Amino acid sequence: MINLSGLTPFAQGGNRKCFVHPHNNNRCLKVLIEGNLKKVRENAPWFKKFRSNKIFDDNMREQIAYNQRALKNNNQDKWKHLAKWYGMVETSIGLASETELIRDNKKNIAITLEKYLFTFGITDEIENAINEFESWLRSSLVLTKNIIPHNIVLGYDNEKIILKIIDGLGSKSYLPLTHISDMFARLYVERRIKLMRSRIKWDLSGRKGSWK
Ligand SMILES: Nc1ncnc2c1ncn2[C@@H]1O[C@H](COP(=O)(O)OP(=O)(O)OP(=O)(O)O)[C@@H](O)[C@H]1O
Ligand SMILES: [Mg+2]
Repeated sequence: MINLSGLTPFAQGGNRKCFVHPHNNNRCLKVLIEGNLKKVRENAPWFKKFRSNKIFDDNMREQIAYNQRALKNNNQDKWKHLAKWYGMVETSIGLASETELIRDNKKNIAITLEKYLFTFGITDEIENAINEFESWLRSSLVLTKNIIPHNIVLGYDNEKIILKIIDGLGSKSYLPLTHISDMFARLYVERRIKLMRSRIKWDLSGRKGSWK
């Protein structure tokens, strides 16, 4: 068992605390924030309350999402824009998901796309990185939920920014067809790309109105 007691997380989202793996600087351990599962369940619509806790747990959801069709092949390109998945591990503060910890070209923990956009806006450099990320989504057909800039971080290949998904993998689907048919997956991915652009615009224009 990995001891995380007393360690300070390097980041925290709405659902999980993120730690640098104490035995491996290049891995990230994410543990659910205590009490969160109960809160999510309480706020869920009545029909979801009957389902098991498992479905509400972000780590479990992610584990299922990493098992999707597009990630089952041996093509290493599938990891180009995605933090690698290493499974679930026991820690002193609960079960954790273990993933690749994305770092920048100076080996600091990567910043989010949100942070970059709020600091520098849309530069040529980030526009190119977003375009490349979109091409990969189209060719890999990796299914994601809506792509939000705080769930993407800036990794590097030498001096070039490589965007990486660190959260939000999986599909919104109730649409099981996206898991079966490339045609439906393509339509689904195109919609995610369009919504990502719309979310970026919304973020940069002071978040007025709705972004969807
Ligand atoms: N693999 C990683 N590499 C680098 N930074 C990461 C990684 N995973 C998470 N982070 C950082 O930690 C933050 C929170 O992580 P994450 O988004 O997984 O938590 P969450 O609670 O599931 O988020 P949400 O609020 O979107 O549900 C991210 O916004 C990012 O800054
Ligand atoms: Mg997140």
